[in-house]
Amino acid sequence: MSFNPTSLLVTGGAGFIGSNFIHSFMANNPECTVTNLDCLTYAGNLKNLTALEGNRKYRFIRGDIGDAALVAGLLADQRINAVVHFAAESHVDRSITGPEIFVRTNVLGTQIMLEESRKHWQSAVVSDFRYLQISTDEVYGSLGDTGYFTEETPLAANSPYSASKAGADLLVRAYHETFGMPTLNTRCSNNYGPYHFPEKLIPLLIHNIINKKPLPVYGDGLNVRDWLHVRDHAVAIEAVLKQASPGSVYNIGGNNEWKNINIVNLVCDLLDERLGRAYGENRTLITFVKDRPGHDRRYAIDASKLKHDLGWSPAYTFEQGIAETIDWYLDNQEWVSEVTSGAYRDYYQSHYGGGAA
Ligand code: NAD
Ligand code: TYD
Repeated sequence: MSFNPTSLLVTGGAGFIGSNFIHSFMANNPECTVTNLDCLTYAGNLKNLTALEGNRKYRFIRGDIGDAALVAGLLADQRINAVVHFAAESHVDRSITGPEIFVRTNVLGTQIMLEESRKHWQSAVVSDFRYLQISTDEVYGSLGDTGYFTEETPLAANSPYSASKAGADLLVRAYHETFGMPTLNTRCSNNYGPYHFPEKLIPLLIHNIINKKPLPVYGDGLNVRDWLHVRDHAVAIEAVLKQASPGSVYNIGGNNEWKNINIVNLVCDLLDERLGRAYGENRTLITFVKDRPGHDRRYAIDASKLKHDLGWSPAYTFEQGIAETIDWYLDNQEWVSEVTSGAYRDYYQSHYGGGAA
């Protein structure tokens, strides 16, 4: 029997994946109320959600997942029966230069989300409840040339980011094992698509190519990532939320491994064509730079459990998804320039009239 979310609390819904998820979920579930709790760090951008302004089923709350009283109030007042917890610090490079906020947001913040959700669930204000933790394949560490991460692969996180996500996943497991709380946990591979903050590889490449700036490739460029379109991720999350058994963990991935240098070359070539540049011109921007410390060599996800149990498979081919993504960035240069100039930070003030960021 499937679970029916009627009032959903999304955290981190102003970020890349959260905003794509809200658009996808609300289009598929127009009867469900969605409350988006986001404190708008540098990665949170309400411009990702302008299409929902005026939608009576959607509300935005600016606040921190670390504010237990706020979270408790939202759960009770909105009669929330499902939580999808995206909010996190998400950039590996930032976790190397400043790990503390990663522990605060990703570990302690998750603990507060879990604890307030547990109290709310046990108060039986709603008859059924689900808590879904959004996680990453990076919790499994790094692979050699062969093999795949399954849900049984031991957690062996290597960066402060992935360690903080693994800590959060273990807390989720603990809340299920200890309290019987109906938790779910998904671990997805690298996402790409619209609204991706342009310090991550694919949007950074597009932005720098358009502006004829160097394309930094870490190390030898032979590290492998397994790329999935963000909308395929959103559909998988919805399937897990509605159909998965409490306590379960699902890997999400599209079986789409690429060496970094091959992605860089592909994006260069697609943009040569679109920008009317000579074939090979953009590749001259490629600049090999010092490697990221502890740079995981290869990620590859085995998502067969998700396919087998819930019938999910990606709708996008990479060819279609990357072409559409490049076109989206070209068509939305205002979004990009507001992000790079920092102007998106004024949006909350002008639309919601709240305190300064
Ligand atoms: P993002 O950095 O684009 O967005 C994170 C959002 O969380 C932002 O809107 C930010 O304002 C918000 N946030 C941060 N701290 C907060 C706090 N204390 N309180 C409230 N809101 C807060 O991240 P993303 O790429 O959209 O990733 C979303 C989730 O998916 C994360 O949990 C990440 O670990 C996971 N994930 C990401 C990828 C990927 O490829 N980007 C892949 C797998 C899993
Ligand atoms: P990123 O988008 O930061 O995701 P993650 O580190 O979570 O996988 O990086 C994807 C890959 O691209 C990763 O192997 C690091 C590499 N990379 C570069 O080579 N140059 C860059 O400028 C960035 C941001 C990443």
